[in-house]
Amino acid sequence: MTFGGAAALSDVGVTAEAGAITGLIGPNGAGKTTLFNCITGLLQPTSGEILLDGRDISSLPPYKRSRAGVARTFQRLELFTSLTVRDNIRVAGEIRNRWSKTRVDPRAETDHVVQLLGLSALADRDVSEIPTGMARRVEMGRALMTRPKILLLDEPASGQDEQETEEFGELLLHLCAEGTAILLVEHDVSLVMKVCSFIQVLDFGRIIASGAPGDIQSNQAVLEAYLGEDHRA
Ligand SMILES: Nc1ncnc2c1ncn2[C@@H]1O[C@H](COP(=O)(O)OP(=O)(O)OP(=O)(O)O)[C@@H](O)[C@H]1O
Ligand SMILES: [Mg+2]
Repeated sequence: MTFGGAAALSDVGVTAEAGAITGLIGPNGAGKTTLFNCITGLLQPTSGEILLDGRDISSLPPYKRSRAGVARTFQRLELFTSLTVRDNIRVAGEIRNRWSKTRVDPRAETDHVVQLLGLSALADRDVSEIPTGMARRVEMGRALMTRPKILLLDEPASGQDEQETEEFGELLLHLCAEGTAILLVEHDVSLVMKVCSFIQVLDFGRIIASGAPGDIQSNQAVLEAYLGEDHRA
């Protein structure tokens, strides 16, 4: 992906397996959100392809990629702020029912998702009134209502406290155990190390390392790029 001649992503090959949480980490400006935008179709990459279950979805518009099973959350939240937590989630179920052959009861499904995400106490509050960390969970709930094959999460733990993040990690493990592929962009390294089975590291738009959490933690290139200042300190 290039922007006016400047490469934001170069030779990036990233895979996320069904039933696993794959981490995508890297310093600010590395290209993580840009990659999500390419995968979901908000950006059309200069070259390359996006495959879902082996099918090339590169030419599909974003809504068709969503119907094919790609769901995401946004680093800068994209919620309906004057709707309640429950209604933000339910909207996705209503829209899904318009095109999907498998109808769901949006009310019942929303109740299930609200509970799963630990949002019951906030369900009737407007999204504008709730803490950012919880609003991130609402975005995840909306994504889950589409019953995705792959869920792209852009810094979902940001704004969640330690205990909330702990619960959230358990939830991610539960979701992937049900077969969903999760691609997790997150600056909370301890969460990433705990839940991911495989991690890919971006730096200046290139993959500089990939492997199991233990390998990534001791990888010299990663320490220099991603943990540079901490490492020197
Ligand atoms: N629409 C755009 N036009 C021009 N440049 C862009 C655009 N979107 C992203 N960039 C540039 O691409 C690079 C990667 O940005 P991106 O937001 O993908 O990084 P990131 O890894 O998500 O960073 P962060 O951890 O801060 O969220 C940055 O240099 C950014 O300025
Ligand atoms: Mg980003």
